[in-house]
Amino acid sequence: VLSSDDKCNVKAVWCKVAGHLEEYGAEALERMFCAYPQTKIYFPHFDLSHGSAQIRAHGKKVFAALHEAVNHIDDLPGALCRLSELHAHSLRVDPVNFKFLAQCVLVVVAIHHPSSLTPEVHASLDKFLCAVSSVLTSKYR
Ligand code: HEM
Repeated sequence: VLSSDDKCNVKAVWCKVAGHLEEYGAEALERMFCAYPQTKIYFPHFDLSHGSAQIRAHGKKVFAALHEAVNHIDDLPGALCRLSELHAHSLRVDPVNFKFLAQCVLVVVAIHHPSSLTPEVHASLDKFLCAVSSVLTSKYR
């Protein structure tokens, strides 16, 4: 469960991320495909080469969704309802993959904002990404 300190920490660091949704999103996806190549099976229809327009466009969508989630941090299930249906029922993404993407999101934030990512903020952002992942995988059965 996210404490009120966690929520403050996430909102504070996300202010720095908010102006770079496409850039950071693309970077996180590229890292995921490179570090965890098994994630590529969900994107057979994508050009996954470096700098691909599809990766940029999709990265922007993923980070915009995270942005929405930060804005509705008190109601993640409500904010992510449609996406959770999509990932569980239509896309059927194996839940392990959410950990991989979360890891890459953390790394991207760490690289671009090292001084913001104190150990406390790191812990809060990790908890937030786990909470988002748990909502996105909650409709599986
Ligand atoms: C689509 C967000 C995790 C695979 C999407 C879309 C969003 C999104 C916003 C676009 C939905 C639309 O077009 O209406 C997220 C978030 C994630 C996450 C916030 C976790 C933090 C994952 C993971 C995978 C994945 C871990 C697989 C490794 C896909 C695929 C699509 C998709 C295959 C459809 C892409 C397309 O054909 O355009 N996701 N996603 N997602 N997601 Fe995720």
